[in-house]
Amino acid sequence: MQTRHIRWNQYHKNCKPKLAELLHGLGIDQSFVEARGSYLYDEQGNAHLDLVGGFGAALLGHNPPVLREALIDALSAGIPVHAQGSVRGEAAKLAERLNRIVEAERDAQEGGDDAHGYYVNFTNSGAESVEAAIKHAYKVHFDKMRRDYERLTRVLNDFYYRVEALGGDIELPGERSDLNKFRDDLDEYNLAQFEAFQNRPVVIALKGSFHGKTTSSLKVTFNKTYREAFEGLSSVQPLFVDMNTPERIGELVEEHRSEFYYPVLEGKRVVLRPVRVTRAIAFILEPILGEGGIRVVPDAVMEELVRQRKATGLPFIIDEIQTGCGRTGSVFAFTRTPLKSLEPDYIVLSKALGGGLVKIGATLVRRDCYDHDFGILHTSTFGEDELSCRVADAFLQQICAGDRQPLKQVVELGDYFKRRMESLQQRHPRLIREVRGRGLMLGLEFTPLAGSSPFFRAAGRQGVLSLLIASYLLRYHRIRALAPLSTMLKGNPGKKRLSVLRIQPPLTITRDEIDRVTDALAEVLNIIECNNEYCLVAHLSGHRVGEDERREPRRIPVAWPLREAEGHIDARVGFVVHPTRIEHLVEYYFPSFEHYGWNRESLSDWWHVIARFLEPVHTFTNRIDSRQFVLENNLVFVPYLPEYLTANHPRYRRQEIEDTIQDAVTIAKELGDDNIPTAMVGLGAYTSIATRNAQTLNDYEVPVTTGNAYTAALVILGIDRAASERGLGLEQAEAAVVGASGNIGLVLAQILVQHVGRLTLIGRPGEQ
Ligand code: F0G
Repeated sequence: MQTRHIRWNQYHKNCKPKLAELLHGLGIDQSFVEARGSYLYDEQGNAHLDLVGGFGAALLGHNPPVLREALIDALSAGIPVHAQGSVRGEAAKLAERLNRIVEAERDAQEGGDDAHGYYVNFTNSGAESVEAAIKHAYKVHFDKMRRDYERLTRVLNDFYYRVEALGGDIELPGERSDLNKFRDDLDEYNLAQFEAFQNRPVVIALKGSFHGKTTSSLKVTFNKTYREAFEGLSSVQPLFVDMNTPERIGELVEEHRSEFYYPVLEGKRVVLRPVRVTRAIAFILEPILGEGGIRVVPDAVMEELVRQRKATGLPFIIDEIQTGCGRTGSVFAFTRTPLKSLEPDYIVLSKALGGGLVKIGATLVRRDCYDHDFGILHTSTFGEDELSCRVADAFLQQICAGDRQPLKQVVELGDYFKRRMESLQQRHPRLIREVRGRGLMLGLEFTPLAGSSPFFRAAGRQGVLSLLIASYLLRYHRIRALAPLSTMLKGNPGKKRLSVLRIQPPLTITRDEIDRVTDALAEVLNIIECNNEYCLVAHLSGHRVGEDERREPRRIPVAWPLREAEGHIDARVGFVVHPTRIEHLVEYYFPSFEHYGWNRESLSDWWHVIARFLEPVHTFTNRIDSRQFVLENNLVFVPYLPEYLTANHPRYRRQEIEDTIQDAVTIAKELGDDNIPTAMVGLGAYTSIATRNAQTLNDYEVPVTTGNAYTAALVILGIDRAASERGLGLEQAEAAVVGASGNIGLVLAQILVQHVGRLTLIGRPGEQ
């Protein structure tokens, strides 16, 4: 326990403080000191069954003996790790093997065609492999576009001298008369078209895709939360296409293009002819969207993609970083889809290619579209190192050994795992929306739990549910599972987020172990079915829930069921609220805790950690009906407790709180519609203090009030009206402010004193 804490502190202090806090808040702040096969071991030697599988990198298991041997052999033989600028034998061997495998997998399916094969550029990571493919595609298009532009410039110049030699009597387009100026303008226009491409090359990707976190790979990664703060770093213009409308690709290629013009002489008239070149340089695709929630691209979509490739000529980059290297039962996932009829322009690999031991990626570029300068333009110190290439080669050899037995095992185990998950879905259709995936790349998507208690509804909607399940599985069953990384980030306030459990175990997993996972999941699903927050999360606030209780959890009635508000309304406002006491939090989010007994301190401590990672949620809609005027009030709940809101935090934490309250305002605003927009958002309880009387909030999209300012304004209006109804001149009237030293009273006193005859201030005894 002690060393575990020291590790956490070290990581927190020196590496990733916020991530460390999230891991801590979720109770998955475990460190592992040993790994073998399907298991990771902590310092006490406890074995944890690993379904994360190195985010898909550990296909053969952790430290697979065959590859360890290959690595040790290589080290014992003292092979050069670094021999940059020489003929890299290991890289050559590996590249050749990759070529043989692509060809074999496509041939086996297709009955052969005249394949070109690939030049392989080795890299250090997945993101770099994608980056290299985009760079290459850009370079090829850039060169073509520049040649087009330069050719047109020559045509224009030749034309100029020819027309000049003819002398006079030539009709220029657009009633121009100055030949010089005509030439310069046209040249400038064409240059601008060229630069429009240069500064805004288009890459088309699917909605939901993930391709890495370097500048251009990030641009084609769909999740806005990852991308937003880095948008300007790469000039790639990403266009995201819905998976169900692949035909959009052709339209986008057409719509985004540069249009050059060149002049021709028709008799004595000069006319302009267009040359159109698309700005789209590539389409990038994961055969199964991994981070996007393990979504398999359906065959019908793949067939349309093949048609689009043929019709547009747009280069295709197939991102096999996660799906490739055996994860889905073949070395390349695309060869088991209609895409196999193509020889893709680019294929990118990484993750499992390193056998779970070394860092390596690869960008395969089809030979006939290869730019021969690229091998010099894109290099890196560690790219092509012999050690990684040697291990990668051994890995590929291993998964293809014995008539591809390991790959068959992936398919067989994957099918079994999927069937077991489907049986859970049949038992819990209210909780599990879908079981997806292929081979050992599976995902379990939960529903937003609309019929459950508020905590489950919020967790389901925000995707946090899958992380809490992961936490439960780790704590009580020593099973390690995770959700897509993006689940851990806030962003897009108020929008539903997928709650997906990612299942990517190594192929060393056994059927018995799969059964064990199924049983553990069945247990936690039953807890959720019973609305029992306590059994799911009590371990995070220092309680250990006994096995009997977990197996047969108390069924708790649904607290605060979701009510659909209906009927006519005249106006709409929003109100930001938060739990003002821990009891309120328990009453609303954790009613099941009341059945077991809980501890104030430990629950608050945990909540202070985890609340930072939760988004505001719209919890209630109430209606206030007064004199035939119906006002809808939407309560948006921010998770913080008062102590947290008012504590003396470092600047970044203050900023986080302010951002969260801003998100709550945005959610309230977006609950309005064109007909009846949200007229105003009020800040409840400590949310006004935490935003320095709303002064940190942006109020240009919707008015925001602390309530105090609004109350003061209403009082002044009321006094004005009362005075005029009674025919009373304010300047003669006497007014009194009760509570004159309070926030509202003080403002009122300052305003009234300028208008009334006499002003009496009434305050608490002792107030000045
Ligand atoms: N492409 C895909 C399809 C990926 O899944 C990933 C990484 C990358 C590219 C980037 O590779 O991390 O080596 O730079 N996916 C990880 C995941 C992070 O969670 O699945 P990288």
